[in-house]
Formats: sequence, structure tokens, C-alpha cells
Amino acid sequence: MDILALTIFPELFGPFWEHGIIKRAIDANKITASALNIRDFAKDRHHSTDDRPYGGGSGMVMLPGPLALSIQKARVAARDARTVLLTPQGEVFDQKKAVELSHEKGLILICGRYEGVDERICQDFIDEEISIGDFVLTGGELAAMVVIEAVIRHIPGVLGGSDSAEKDSFNDGLLEHAHYTRPRDFMGNPVPDVLTNGNHKDIEQWRMESALIRTFLKRQDLLKNRTLSQQEINILKKWCSDIESIIKAQSVFGVGALPGDQ
Ligand code: ADE
Repeated sequence: MDILALTIFPELFGPFWEHGIIKRAIDANKITASALNIRDFAKDRHHSTDDRPYGGGSGMVMLPGPLALSIQKARVAARDARTVLLTPQGEVFDQKKAVELSHEKGLILICGRYEGVDERICQDFIDEEISIGDFVLTGGELAAMVVIEAVIRHIPGVLGGSDSAEKDSFNDGLLEHAHYTRPRDFMGNPVPDVLTNGNHKDIEQWRMESALIRTFLKRQDLLKNRTLSQQEINILKKWCSDIESIIKAQSVFGVGALPGDQ
């Protein structure tokens, strides 16, 4: 995949390309990555990239001219790339979108600044507008990095383990199970026994229950929007009956009463 970020701060991307998963993906020829400076496409002697809005009002708007030229240049470097504008007004980015974008041949990510981008660019040059959440950043650079990182994890061969991305939280609609590493006992808090007894079937079962309970406790919305497997339904039913028997046991003593009260 060819990745091009269009920005007025290309230097922000240097360290990003040079570390971790991005660097590994570049070194393994899974992606190419570069940043184009929108300012290099400005025609006036001040190299302006913004101007005051027609109709008045506060803030500045990114000029269409330099943006259009930089997009054209990027499209020559990355043929058939998808052109994405990072903006808080876009569709909110999620794991599904990350997987979808990972199938693209290229991504041109336009990092908006100022109050916004001239509407004619949005209409005629952009395939898609993406937001990384309902909050406002000063510019789209950090948002572009978030999108790049989330997308390239799904390109085959970019992550170490072949199935690591599939096991990520959200990929099967559940949060990930709890993780533990050494020491076996940390400040009096031991690792669950099942993880240390070497029984892989038990470990798989525990991980599935752990993923299910974490999703139930933290993100019930994910469970509501997902078709549950029969095994997952059985686990939920078992919890229901366990909870009911705890409540039933309480009613023997009366609500709010303690066992010793009788
Ligand atoms: N630019 C400014 N805020 C943004 C956001 N929330 N997502 C994407 N790009 C942005």
C-alpha cells in the first residue's frame, strides 16, 4: 500500500515513519510512506495555504489551489489511491473501517488545518471524510497517524504473528480477554490458575468467557449489535442462572438482611 500524507507539517511524520510497526512495514516493503508539504504547491510569494472565509467570520480556510495541486501530485505517486480528508465532520473511524481501508492500493490522507477546507475540495477531490472521534484537534495530522496505524495492522504480513490482527479487540465484535504475564503473583494478586495448568482447551474456554464478561461490563453496545454463537449464549445463560441462585439465596433471609440477623 502506498501512503501519502498531505500536510503543512510534514516534519511531524518523520519520526512516525521511523518507529515500530510503521518502520517494520516499510522495511518489509509492505507499504511506502511519505508526507507531501501542501505549502510547496502554493503559488504566491508567501507560500500561503489559507485565507479569510468569504462571507466573513473568524478563522481561516485552507485554499483550494495548493490542496488540489498536492492531491494531483499524490495521485501520480499513488495510483488508484483512496483520498481521505481527516476532519471532525467525517464518519467516525472504527475497526471495520480500518479493515476496509487496509484493502486499498493506496491512501492519500489530507490533514486539514484552520477552520476547515474549501468546500470545492471536499466535493471534487475527496473520496471520503473521516473523523477519529467527536472532539476537535487543531489539525488532521494526529488523526492521520491514528488511521495509518490502525489500517496497516491489517495488511497481511505486517504484524509478527499471522493471526494477531484477527485476535484484536473488536475484530470479532468482542473486547479482548484479560492478559497476564510474569510474575505469577503480583503484590498478592495471582494469575488465574487455569492459565498456568497447560490445558489449552480450558485456556481457550477461559479466554472466551473473559472476553464475553469484559464486553458485557464495558461495552454492552457491542453485544447488542452482534450475533452471538450458541456457546456464547450458553455462557450468558449460565451467568444468569448463577446470579439468580445468588438472589434466591438472599430472599431466604429477606432483602437487605444479613445471614446472622435471623
Ligand atoms: N481534525 C480535527 N479534529 C479531527 C478529528 N476529530 N478527527 C479527524 N480529523 C480532525
